[in-house]
Amino acid sequence: KKGLQVAIDGPASAGKSTVAKVVAKRFNYIYVDTGAMYRVVTLKAIEEHLKLDDEIKILDLLKKINIEFKPGNPVQHVYVDGHEVTNQIRSENVTNNVSTVAALPAIRKELVKRQQQIAADGGVVMDGRDIGTTVLPNAEVKIFLIASVTERAERRYLENKKNGINVTLTDLKREIETRDYKDSHRKISPLKKAKDAIEIDTTSMTIDQVVDEISNLISKKI
Ligand code: C5P
Repeated sequence: KKGLQVAIDGPASAGKSTVAKVVAKRFNYIYVDTGAMYRVVTLKAIEEHLKLDDEIKILDLLKKINIEFKPGNPVQHVYVDGHEVTNQIRSENVTNNVSTVAALPAIRKELVKRQQQIAADGGVVMDGRDIGTTVLPNAEVKIFLIASVTERAERRYLENKKNGINVTLTDLKREIETRDYKDSHRKISPLKKAKDAIEIDTTSMTIDQVVDEISNLISKKI
C-alpha cells in the first residue's frame, strides 16, 4: 500500500481544500477535491440546458465525460475531456446549483465509484461531504472540519477580493447557509460527521495550525 486514506469532510468554505492540499503535499499523497467533481457535472448540465433534477439525462452526460485533476497553485487545475474548467466551476451560477445536482442518487453513485477507484491504493487525501461516512468508510484518518458561518463568510470574502470577485458578506453568508442546509438534509449520504471522525473547529486557528494537527494524527497512524 502506498499510504493511508485520509478523509476530510465538513460544511462549505470550512477550509477543507486549502488544508487538504498542504497535508497531501507534506506526505506526498494525492489530493482529491470531490466537490470539484460535483461542480463539473453541474457546469456541464447547465451548459447542455438540462433540467437540474433530470437524473437520467444528467447521468447520461456524466457517463460520457472524463474528469481530471492536475496540480497547481494556489488551486489545482480541473479538466473535462481535456478542456480546462478550473474557473468556470467556481462561478456563482454553479455554486448556487451544485447542491441540487449533488442530491441526485444516480449521480452520487457514479461519482462515489470513481472516487473509490482513485483512492483504492491509499496515499490519498480526499475532501468532501460524505468521504468518511460513505466513500471511504475504512479511511485510517477521518477529520470533520468546522468553523462559524461568520468566519467562513469572511474568509471567502477576503479570498474573493484577491481574485477581483465582488459578492457582499451578507450574500456569502446566505449562500453558505443555504448550501449547508441542502447538503445536510438530502436523503442520500447527507453532510454528517462520521462516528469515528475527529472534529476540528478552525474558527480561531491558522491554516498552519490545522495542517499541523491533522499531520500529527496521520503520523501517529503510519
Ligand atoms: O466542496 P465544494 O464546496 O466545492 O462542494 C460543492 C458541492 O458539492 C457541495 O455543496 C455539495 O453539494 C456537493 N458535494 C457533495 N459531496 C461531496 C463533495 C461535494 O455532495 N463529497
